[in-house]
Amino acid sequence: MLYFAQPSTRTYLSFNNACQILGIQTSDMRSSGYSSEVKGESLEDTLETMHSYTDMIIMRHVEENIAEKAAWMFNESEKPIPVINAGSGPHEHPTQALLDAYTLHRAFKGKVKNKTIAIIGDIKRGRAVRSLIYMLSNFEGIRFVFLSPPELGLPDDLRQFLGKNSIPFEESDNLDKLLRRADVFYYTRIQDEYDKQHESKSIDYSRFWLKKEHLSHMKSEAVILHPLPRRNEIPPEIDGDKRAWYWKQEVNGLWMRTAIIAHVFKEDGYILNYK
Ligand code: NCD
Repeated sequence: MLYFAQPSTRTYLSFNNACQILGIQTSDMRSSGYSSEVKGESLEDTLETMHSYTDMIIMRHVEENIAEKAAWMFNESEKPIPVINAGSGPHEHPTQALLDAYTLHRAFKGKVKNKTIAIIGDIKRGRAVRSLIYMLSNFEGIRFVFLSPPELGLPDDLRQFLGKNSIPFEESDNLDKLLRRADVFYYTRIQDEYDKQHESKSIDYSRFWLKKEHLSHMKSEAVILHPLPRRNEIPPEIDGDKRAWYWKQEVNGLWMRTAIIAHVFKEDGYILNYK
């Protein structure tokens, strides 16, 4: 069951195509506007129905922790089924973090440790960013540099997490200074769907945007990532640079999600040993 109650292009398509690659049939609901939630049904009852008809739920929803809640509900039932979080509001996006880490693994030929990771954009509300910080904190010698308009800076819980785990980080306002230093430039768009009153309309993010003239100052082995969709953070004329990994990153998302589903259904051993 693909239940996507928030918009999605890559995550939905890659999960759906991953299922097809594995020979799995899918049902989908691409908006809570099509479900009986509009008739007043509770989200729990909607999920219960999806649980009745399918063997796995892959879900994106604005509500924080709802995937965990669904998993807990189903674990208590006579038919426990797995739930995959495909994005939970501004909170988490764990499969994105896995595909990002996989992309870095490929780009750095397995040597992801001791890297300086610049994260640029909406750090306050970016779920991809939050999950990536948790993920990369598992690698030795990682250092983060956060670049964002002050209104969208590092939230307190992430600050505490990094402090508690002694992970070095800096906050900067200067992209030029960072160009020569960073190994990874992870860009994100401003997540204005979470604005309360269009407050991010007035935020000028343009001083952090990547421009073609920046490329000559960057390390030759640097990696530019973006979970996409992009707006103006990275212009298309950069796409052809060998350091631009974001289109490969989205392809990796297909294979990472195929691997996740195979693993959850305990079929990865079969695939790895396939002759
Ligand atoms: C991200 C998301 O949905 O959180 N996109 C994605 O899944 N590839 C990033 C975003 O929407 O900005």
